[in-house]
Amino acid sequence: MAQSFRTHTSGELRASHVGERVTLAGWVHRRRDHGQLTFFDIRDRYGITQVVTNADEAPDAHAAAAPVRNEWVVQAEGIVRRRPPGTANAELATGEIEVAVDRFVVLNASKVPPFYVNEEQAGLDEAIRLEYRYMDLRRPTMQQRILLRARLTAAIRRAMEVAGFVDIETPTLIRSTPEGARDFVVPSRMQPGLFYALPQSPQQLKQLLMVSGYDRYFQLARCYRDEDLRGDRQLEFTQLDLEMSFVDEADVMDTVEAAVLAVTHEVVPDRPILHEPFPRITYADAMARFGSDKPDIRFGMELVDLTDAVRAVDFRVFADVIAAGGAVRGVVAPGCADWSRKQLDELTETARRHGAGGLVHLAVQSDGSLHGPVAKFLDVEAQASVRAASGAGPGDLLLVVADANARLGMEVLGRLRLELGTRLGLRTPGVLAYVWVHRFPMFTWDEEGKRWDATHNPFSAPVWDQADRMEADPGAIDAQQYDLALNGWELGGGSVRIHRRDLLERAFALMGHSVEGMRDQFGALLDALEFGAPPHGGIAIGIDRWAALLADVENIREVTAFPKTQAGRDLMMRAPAPLAPQQLGDLSLKIAESEPGGDTGS
Ligand code: AMO
Ligand code: AMP
Repeated sequence: MAQSFRTHTSGELRASHVGERVTLAGWVHRRRDHGQLTFFDIRDRYGITQVVTNADEAPDAHAAAAPVRNEWVVQAEGIVRRRPPGTANAELATGEIEVAVDRFVVLNASKVPPFYVNEEQAGLDEAIRLEYRYMDLRRPTMQQRILLRARLTAAIRRAMEVAGFVDIETPTLIRSTPEGARDFVVPSRMQPGLFYALPQSPQQLKQLLMVSGYDRYFQLARCYRDEDLRGDRQLEFTQLDLEMSFVDEADVMDTVEAAVLAVTHEVVPDRPILHEPFPRITYADAMARFGSDKPDIRFGMELVDLTDAVRAVDFRVFADVIAAGGAVRGVVAPGCADWSRKQLDELTETARRHGAGGLVHLAVQSDGSLHGPVAKFLDVEAQASVRAASGAGPGDLLLVVADANARLGMEVLGRLRLELGTRLGLRTPGVLAYVWVHRFPMFTWDEEGKRWDATHNPFSAPVWDQADRMEADPGAIDAQQYDLALNGWELGGGSVRIHRRDLLERAFALMGHSVEGMRDQFGALLDALEFGAPPHGGIAIGIDRWAALLADVENIREVTAFPKTQAGRDLMMRAPAPLAPQQLGDLSLKIAESEPGGDTGS
């Protein structure tokens, strides 16, 4: 990479370059003083190279380098030579050589950085990292994550191209398209009192593109959702958004799966993919087996149904739940029969926190008998039935949750399963376990609003031959909806859409939308469905989550160059910020509360 400032990058020089005159430019990663000799590790995003100044051989260069400290930007010119025997560094790609410098130029100084750039600091305050994000992003670990993300998006574009997808940009100043979160809105100056919404996703626009005939659209789309933030959620994030025409569920899953595999193999060739092809399990099975609609299938420990086994047991908690039509389910923690009171209390706490009334634990003794506070309610026969139904054997610990709300019970056990999986080291690092979960219930009953709600998005189609029964039994209708999960995270979700206006209006009516309400929110799409809309479906995959999982980090902030804090703040640019009165005036806005959010806290 010959340029005016350098002949090579700091990751490039090898033994084959010995004897060549080279110039490097980069940051001082580390400086070691040996009086006569000074060693500098020069770093750029390509790597690290050791250079040496020698007071005898090149006094000017040595003097120029004297004031230089970590993170200064320097240029060093000299001859590549083999490092003396015994001093090679096998950990560096450039570790066999060093550069004997005869010209050393300070390109720019640096203040003492707010934290070490050249070494990992455990427990480094994230607020400081975010305030000085440009320094944080200089750290080699962060550079690797950001570069991985760039390889990911490059690979995605290639895979999309190969599969014949067309990249089409959709606007980000639009009208609200509901995806279940609040909108970010932008006031219009030219239309006082009117607002644009930033897209929660390009959902309606991509469906309209199908009506226009752009089969196989894709976009790396920026989405905005005003919702509470978590490790896997930011206010703005990026989706690989795509839509296809003349497809059914399997067509979309097959196409996306091929692309996901190609991308994964390209970006992280060393990481084993557990199941190929990806398993496809129904929502009902995912809940019953894993207690989650985004199961981590890197390990087994599937839930077990104990309702029949304990039906005759005279323990009030179980009997009440069974009488109420609920279920008694459990999960077996292999080899955990000897877990301490404290460990069991922690599990009970997890169960309670996720909504369970409590947790029953039964340890299987070496003679097969069950041990625990509730064991006394189970006679020999019931104990045998529980063992048979759960598969628990001597040394195992059986955790049981009874809940009249079967779904809640499964979800609690799903949480316990994950916690146990973590504690037992079963969530194997490195391994990637993709899994499709499909056939979600089309509608979920909203107890508060007393109405049916779309489980996913309101445009999802019912399984076609169930459409007739939609009004008769909304809770029993399956949607042609599929999610892609990876290692316990929801990576993406999509569906085959309703492409006929009459059916969409029926679905909306079930969800309590008035005709005017529908026109207001979805007018363009409803109209377009009457102008020859083809059958179509698609999906969106969260790029931030995908990058985080491929980089093996737990928070998408670690793979986002400039993320926001949990409270939605950009600590570096100090956003959000108040507007000047003039700007408010231009936008015809008045702030109702005079106290804008202060600048403290994160
Ligand atoms: P959905 O709302 O499921 O579907 O979003 C798809 C994927 O986007 C990612 N994602 C997020 N990533 C980071 N921060 C967030 N706040 C956030 N919210 C969502 C997730 C999620 O799986 N229009 C539909 C897609 C479709 O039906 O085609 C949609 O947006 O990885
Ligand atoms: P209680 O009668 O509420 O004191 O509960 C007796 C035992 O049953 C305690 O160990 C509770 O943790 C447990 N328990 C209570 N509710 C449930 C439930 N819904 N599922 C499983 N165990 C429960």
